[in-house]
Amino acid sequence: MKNQKSNQIKETPTLKALAPKQIDEEKASKTLRVCVTGAAGQIGYSFIPLLCNGAVFGTNTKIQLRLLDVPSAIKTLEGVVLELQDCAYPLVEEIKFGDNPREMFVGCDVVVFIGGFPRKQGMERKELLTINGGIFHDQGKALDEVAKKTVKCLVVANPANTNCLILQKHAPSIPKENFTCLTRLDQNRAVAQIALKTDAAVTDVKNVIIWGNHSATQYPDVNHAKVRNESVRNIINDDVYLNLDFISKVQKRGAEIIQVRGGSSVFSAANAIKDHLRDWYFGTKEGSFVSMGVVSDGSYGVPEGLVFSYPVTCEDFSYKIVQGLSLDPFSTEKIRITTQELVEERNEALVIEAELE
Ligand code: LMR
Repeated sequence: MKNQKSNQIKETPTLKALAPKQIDEEKASKTLRVCVTGAAGQIGYSFIPLLCNGAVFGTNTKIQLRLLDVPSAIKTLEGVVLELQDCAYPLVEEIKFGDNPREMFVGCDVVVFIGGFPRKQGMERKELLTINGGIFHDQGKALDEVAKKTVKCLVVANPANTNCLILQKHAPSIPKENFTCLTRLDQNRAVAQIALKTDAAVTDVKNVIIWGNHSATQYPDVNHAKVRNESVRNIINDDVYLNLDFISKVQKRGAEIIQVRGGSSVFSAANAIKDHLRDWYFGTKEGSFVSMGVVSDGSYGVPEGLVFSYPVTCEDFSYKIVQGLSLDPFSTEKIRITTQELVEERNEALVIEAELE
């Protein structure tokens, strides 16, 4: 038989059914103007339907959609808009698209920054700094000029933390609490791995933390995590797995997807964007926290101003960093490593910035 190896079906552990999250549609009906950048790209193509069908801000929230992409992608974007018309989404009040952030960001309540050059096989995310840093420099200025001062920003394009830092730096009239970057994909990956390992439903796993950078130095921490209210460390009872294999699996999952699928993650990223925005907007459940990259206020010894993934609780489109979690020496060292990488990225970004000014 030809190429027998590739015909073998590997035994894959099964994830218990994902129970849909309880949907909180209690909020009064309102309208949000939401801009998606990189809207003609693959993540945009997966995320925009979630945004328009109510999966993100609920079925009581109307959407005024703004779609931004580079001039070379405008034809594709036009096609996306045709499809959006054909969906006849009841929640979508209006759709505008274009290549000028100063037009697309006008009056926005939310901007999701997906647009950027994607990582290819063999590249580290920070190698994208030079290519993508310039985009965030310009878009920060545009945001500062034309968006609402209450605009909420989520940066997805890599290196997400440092792109978010650049964006925030150029939009000084907008509160720094309004800038976040995506580490929810890492959190979801970590939760799925723990659910697989413990044969639990993903909904039984809570409070896994992603500290630091959305990169291979991130620290997925289970020391405060529970499966059905029992400590993950007790249930798994295997520190070698939790301190080595588990951490490395989550840290390298983005690269694994690129290698196996031949392109970086798409719908899992779109799904994580939905989860991040939804929890920020509707709030986290009592006793639960989620991880978001936010501008550091110095918590846990991380230098102020770095965009760092922390455990947070959310309420009504605001968040609070969870305080007072105990950190053992292992965790302290892991947090130091990812902090160090973010400091280096910031310093590199400042050099690139100086050239752009
Ligand atoms: C991911 O984590 O899958 C994305 O950020 C893509 C990448 O570069 O890893």
